[in-house]
Amino acid sequence: MATAASLTEGAVAVLAAAEPPEKLRLTEATATAWRDGLIAETGRSKPPDRPARPARPALVPPREVPRRRIGPDPAGRIALLHALAHIELNAIDLAWDLIARFSPAAGAAGMPREFFDDWCRVAADEARHFALLGARLADLGAAYGDLPAHDGLWEAAKTTADDLLARLAIVPLVLEARGLDVTPGMIDKLRRAGDEASAEILEVIYREEITHVAAGERWFARLCRRQGRAPGVAWEALVGQHFKGVLKPPFNDEARRAAGMSPDVYGYFTDLGS
Ligand SMILES: [Fe+2]
Ligand SMILES: [Fe+2]
Repeated sequence: MATAASLTEGAVAVLAAAEPPEKLRLTEATATAWRDGLIAETGRSKPPDRPARPARPALVPPREVPRRRIGPDPAGRIALLHALAHIELNAIDLAWDLIARFSPAAGAAGMPREFFDDWCRVAADEARHFALLGARLADLGAAYGDLPAHDGLWEAAKTTADDLLARLAIVPLVLEARGLDVTPGMIDKLRRAGDEASAEILEVIYREEITHVAAGERWFARLCRRQGRAPGVAWEALVGQHFKGVLKPPFNDEARRAAGMSPDVYGYFTDLGS
């Protein structure tokens, strides 16, 4: 495959790829080419409003997604792994959308090279997470696309399409941080159900997701400093404006602290009793 002429051109090609194998292949190729210095510039290719998606899974409202009772019966574990694979597929696109939408030409003038390094690394991690979950689904006789999936995951991207600070406030610092809160419980349940192979995959994902939240926190704080805003105050304001859900305790303070998040900030909404 020819290397993309620019990083945003590569990002847009991933977003335009509907089939997961192609999305994964382009992600790996573009992230590696950027890392190795084979792509010289970020460029100015614009991302689509929505990434391309395969014909299956059917995208449905959250309440129509099958429940995931985790136990010896593989159906519940398949439902869980399928839902997680769907989240990872969206996470691949979210990383590339961030790169393309907020590249210097798209208005976030002066983002340094390390900003793009971080989100390319995140995109490559998410692609690997999807592949791990896909392989485990195959072990269990299932595949991504077999079950309906949640249609709301691109919502956060849409509501934060004009504001990099808002995108960072919501995607890594609310949604991915929420993943850190709930993943250890899933790992325990999988182990109790005797599914060590799935538990181990979730442990890999969990460790790497801490680094994604850390990247979000680092760039959020850096942009706030540049804009002369206090990060905690800015985060509260942006979450209030752009996130319609509730920040649900219990929080995983240990993992959040490891990612550089402060309980003084994310605990604010709980203190208000919301
Ligand atoms: Fe992931
Ligand atoms: Fe992630």
